[in-house]
Amino acid sequence: MALHQVVIMGDPILRTAAAEVNVFDQDLKMLVRDMFETMYHAEGIGLAAPQIGISQRVIVVDLRSEEQPEARLALINPKVVWASTDTEKSPEGCLSIPGLEEVIKRFSAIRVEAVGIDGGRIELEADGLFARVLQHEIDHVDGILFVDRVSALKRRILMKKWKKIQAEED
Ligand code: NI
Repeated sequence: MALHQVVIMGDPILRTAAAEVNVFDQDLKMLVRDMFETMYHAEGIGLAAPQIGISQRVIVVDLRSEEQPEARLALINPKVVWASTDTEKSPEGCLSIPGLEEVIKRFSAIRVEAVGIDGGRIELEADGLFARVLQHEIDHVDGILFVDRVSALKRRILMKKWKKIQAEED
């Protein structure tokens, strides 16, 4: 197992639509293991492969400590196939954008189709935080970050904050 460095906003890989996975082999299992390990180490509840520099449509989520005891899963090629008309707003952060948080509007409930790491088809429904995390991670494999999901004005403010955080770290 290997711990990976989390890629930070500014790296073009986070802005690239990741490739579909077609091969379900040992390498994929290893990637998923590494992603869980990296996510736990960073104390995140979700992670997408591009965040460790791998441009593939793979996400992991673990919300067992939150409201959904069954919600530890790895999804390959995940796709939102249905979304509720209801939406909800809640603060979101991202391991690739440390220090920033913003209220983001997401669908309250979604249905997701994906493939498991053994190649079997997965279909699941999610609501609340589980739905939010899935939407956030599926955005990642499309090259979308939460800062894209706010108004132009809010984005300007967020980017200013981000520059300040980055400057403080240098
Ligand atoms: Ni994120």
